[in-house]
Amino acid sequence: MNSEVTELRRAFPIFAAVPPPFHYLDNAATAQICHSAAEALHAFETRGRANVKRGVYRLADAATAAFEEARTAVAAYLGTDDPSEIAFTSGTTMGLNLAAHVLSPRLGPGRAILVSELEHHSNIVPWQMAAERTGAELRVAPVDEEGRLLVDRLEALLDERVAVVAIAHVSNVTGILVDVARVGAAARAVGALLVVDGAQRVPHGPFDVRALGCDLYAFSGHKMFAATGAGAIWIRRELAEELPPFLGGGEMIARVSFAGTTYARPPHRFEAGTPAIGPVLALGAAARWLLTLNWQTVRRREEALTARLLDGLAALPAIRILGPRDIRDRFGIVAFEVAGLHAHDVCQLLDGFGVCTRGGHHCAQPLMDRFGTVASVRASLAPYNDEADVDALLTGLEVISRKFR
Ligand code: ALA
Repeated sequence: MNSEVTELRRAFPIFAAVPPPFHYLDNAATAQICHSAAEALHAFETRGRANVKRGVYRLADAATAAFEEARTAVAAYLGTDDPSEIAFTSGTTMGLNLAAHVLSPRLGPGRAILVSELEHHSNIVPWQMAAERTGAELRVAPVDEEGRLLVDRLEALLDERVAVVAIAHVSNVTGILVDVARVGAAARAVGALLVVDGAQRVPHGPFDVRALGCDLYAFSGHKMFAATGAGAIWIRRELAEELPPFLGGGEMIARVSFAGTTYARPPHRFEAGTPAIGPVLALGAAARWLLTLNWQTVRRREEALTARLLDGLAALPAIRILGPRDIRDRFGIVAFEVAGLHAHDVCQLLDGFGVCTRGGHHCAQPLMDRFGTVASVRASLAPYNDEADVDALLTGLEVISRKFR
């Protein structure tokens, strides 16, 4: 095993716990938790547990300080030095529902929302619900036969009626990177706001969220090596100040009376109720850990592994890759079909080789429709994957397609 990968795996408790063969290639669904995130979660629950933003005793003060430090770490990972732009959520789905809710006052009859055909259901359904609630129109930008967004067609659908554009940064099916900066410029030109589903981009290295030119950016902790139950949404500071709250309840208020309630300033306005404190602390720890990696090396390795995976799949006669065959503008997520076998059967058989993959529609049924299928197998990479993981998948597929087709 590559010595850098060996070193990386030491940072993940799972690799010491699960006996080989263990080839974890379902990172786009949930990545493994890194040691520092698991420790932050455990330390809070066993040695530092108290509610945040409320108590005035030392244990509660320490929990609140750690919570706000996690916010600062997550902000730093996204390239912003303004932690108040980060609101904690339960994950990307909650973040996108928050976005659809707080932007609803800008929607209504005569207004439109623009999404794309490559979206995860989390970036479709909340907007369909908002359209139904407000009477706004829902427009859909198409993709080409490889699943690449047709940005020209998206631009043609933009006019001054469009109030919101909602788009994935990276597809959870094909790993394709969307040119968010170009979409953002086009959205701004007609006065629309841009919401980005960053779930599949965030685990692949730091970037400058402001430079993307978007307004809201949602992501999950469990895909970026933290715990399940916490994620965040970045909201551009100037916009956040103007937005209404999402959920009502404790800690999102300035003053409550029956004559009328006023709301806290961002980000607390968007954080009603007791948050998932331990998972938020884990998210902060994971962000700090991610900032220590040499991303040039990690990206180079991921590209090489993606190419190895694509070449290996293309060499197997029964396989159809959904999406591009090359690594241009894409991350390490590859979906494919095995002729004559259902994706779920393939995943179960691969488990016999110690290979963990996802099978199904990947919560992206419109994209599956575009590819003319209902289900596929998906392999997705993380920095701790190496050639042996990819080769185990390819060997498993070779045996499966020989034996069972
Ligand atoms: N959104 C996650 C996936 O694509 C669950 O698998």
